[in-house]
Amino acid sequence: MLKKYSMSIEYVDICCGLAWGDEGKGKVVSQLSKEGEYDFVCRWAGGNNAGHTIYVDGKKYSTHLIPSGVFYGIKSIIGPGCVLNLRSFNEELNYLKENGFDISLVKVSPRAHIVTEEHIEEDKAKYEKTIGTTAKGIGPCYKDKYARTGKQAIDYLFDLEKHIWDEKLHGKVLCEGAQGFWLDIDYGNYPYVTSSTTLPYSACSLGFAPQKIRKIYGAVKIYDTRVGYDPDFPERLYDNEELKTIAKCGEEYGTTTGRMRKVNYLNVNKLIKSIKISGVTDLIVSKVDILEKLSIYKYYYNGKLLCFNNLEDMINGIEEVLNKECSEYLKEIIYSNNPEKI
Ligand code: IMP
Ligand code: MG
Repeated sequence: MLKKYSMSIEYVDICCGLAWGDEGKGKVVSQLSKEGEYDFVCRWAGGNNAGHTIYVDGKKYSTHLIPSGVFYGIKSIIGPGCVLNLRSFNEELNYLKENGFDISLVKVSPRAHIVTEEHIEEDKAKYEKTIGTTAKGIGPCYKDKYARTGKQAIDYLFDLEKHIWDEKLHGKVLCEGAQGFWLDIDYGNYPYVTSSTTLPYSACSLGFAPQKIRKIYGAVKIYDTRVGYDPDFPERLYDNEELKTIAKCGEEYGTTTGRMRKVNYLNVNKLIKSIKISGVTDLIVSKVDILEKLSIYKYYYNGKLLCFNNLEDMINGIEEVLNKECSEYLKEIIYSNNPEKI
């Protein structure tokens, strides 16, 4: 047997989105960072197209790129699979510094790719209208990366100064996902997807073996929402009065773009698939309070819209199919009705 050396990785926990982003991952990673005694909190994909809302001591913070470990004094890593806009990175650093957080904890992999003004221009010109991108230059940056014509953070050592990551992961690691399963480049409704891998297996690009993964937290809301163009979420959803009330009551507008989200009832078949393929061990279902407030208890299953009289019956219905379909890995289901904690 080989001996374990002291700087090895103990375990990795991952939090990922199971829908189209905006599932409440920020809340989950924030709480895990606070309680989990992690040595690192890392992002593995995407850039400032993401938006995390985090409450620290009752105060609301919004970040787009920097992992939430920084709010709890934990080293926060932007991994090699991420793309980085230097201007918004610096803006976010200043915002965190002004709010009293230790920004020396924030590190960027030398292999992360840099989003340039040209990438943003191209995104605005070609993809904002057709795909409904966030117009942050994410797709064009990944295009250059895979064409092997991109620029990496290492080429910007001067600008990034002390923020270049130069050590190995060790101890306890938390990886925070961006976007969600159905925005993944391979699983989503292509081309209405983001340009990176949002599934948890991709977190291994940070530099650990899959065997190190302990828990996979999957975040989902009790109803579906979508920003950006997607034929699976047609415009007529905006006209449905009941869905409109959910959107209003749930304050469904994007943290990054401010756009109104389209709302639909939860598609349980899609949820099952995303849980299974992601290997979710702990499921966090958020915003149950919204449906309770409105007394709307419905979800889609096998193409039918099922209606229930109360939350308990609705949850029992969902759990029955999840127990049948997802019990191989799924061990825990938590329902959350609090925007600040799980
Ligand atoms: P892009 O990632 O900006 O290229 O956008 C591609 C698609 O993903 C669009 O439909 C966006 O609305 C969506 N998207 C990207 N990031 C997020 C996010 O953090 N939350 C929700 N949707 C997102
Ligand atoms: Mg978000």
